Amino acid sequence: DWTPDAFVETTVAELKEKIGDERVILGLSGGVDSSVAAMLLHKAIGKHLHCIFVNNGLLRKNEFESVLDQYKHMGLNVKGVDASARFLEALKGESDPETKRKIIGRVFIEVFDDEAHKVENAKWLAQGTIYPDRIESVSASGGPSATIKSHHNVGGLPDYMKLKIVEPLHLLFKDEVRRVGRNLEMDPAILGRHPFPGPGLGIRILGDITAEKVSILQEVDAIFIDGLKKWGLYDKVWQAGAMLLPVNSVGVMGDERTYEKCVALRAVESTDGMTADWVNLPYEFLQKTSNDIINKVKGVNRVVYDISSKPPATIEWE
Ligand code: XMP
Repeated sequence: DWTPDAFVETTVAELKEKIGDERVILGLSGGVDSSVAAMLLHKAIGKHLHCIFVNNGLLRKNEFESVLDQYKHMGLNVKGVDASARFLEALKGESDPETKRKIIGRVFIEVFDDEAHKVENAKWLAQGTIYPDRIESVSASGGPSATIKSHHNVGGLPDYMKLKIVEPLHLLFKDEVRRVGRNLEMDPAILGRHPFPGPGLGIRILGDITAEKVSILQEVDAIFIDGLKKWGLYDKVWQAGAMLLPVNSVGVMGDERTYEKCVALRAVESTDGMTADWVNLPYEFLQKTSNDIINKVKGVNRVVYDISSKPPATIEWE
């Protein structure tokens, strides 16, 4: 029978044996999988694990700083790289969802590659790939749904890097990854974090991306997510976030007519992201959240709640 105890013990022993004295590079995303993979490797090889955490400028509000602190607190050998400006520049004027994903994926690889080359004697690339990632990316390369969305979590790096791949979680499902994390006494705030897409807010800003739109959406998202936590709803929801729509609508403020942005809130229940139901959030919560957003976030005058299930609607709007 599978137990996290036995898994940690055998995996750490195997990693030690396999890697020996060599150096390993790992890209942290802030998510559960890469964090647990890092902790396992840290337990096995300590400072020989070199973690890289890239800020693509499309993370949640304050996420880069706070997650970087958490990683350091965990004892990880981690380097934070703020490449926000480079991502924004590369994305300038682009509104096609798939092209935006490709640009974000490409710039990530460039930035990561630059950093990886600075680690002397790196021989391994570690990835937090879990079992379902594999299934999805295999089916994503063949089936009719193949080109719906190109997820860039798997097979990330150009092969000229010639690093050997190590994937300590490749046979695990998400709940098992969380159990391993608890066994390693990791912060529940990291283990319970909602899934967040690699391209981040880049696919939640419909249309082209600007620094101003990112900052508006970060504010809106933070009010929504903090509210879910305050109301004890965060752990009941599988994933939540806000979308900035490419629509202005008319409003009134005092005697003035406004013509400002509209945001959509989305919260879903799911087990694997393949299907999802919208969550019946309390009206009182939606009312308070909507008021807070409209009162506090300059440039937004309308909030809507997404009541579509997947299929046919996907979780993200792009
Ligand atoms: P959809 O929108 O396809 O999302 O219903 C299903 C799950 O996948 C996440 N997602 C992505 N994750 N890169 C990622 O790393 C992507 O391009 C991407 N697109 C969607 C989404 O957040 C949800 O958890």
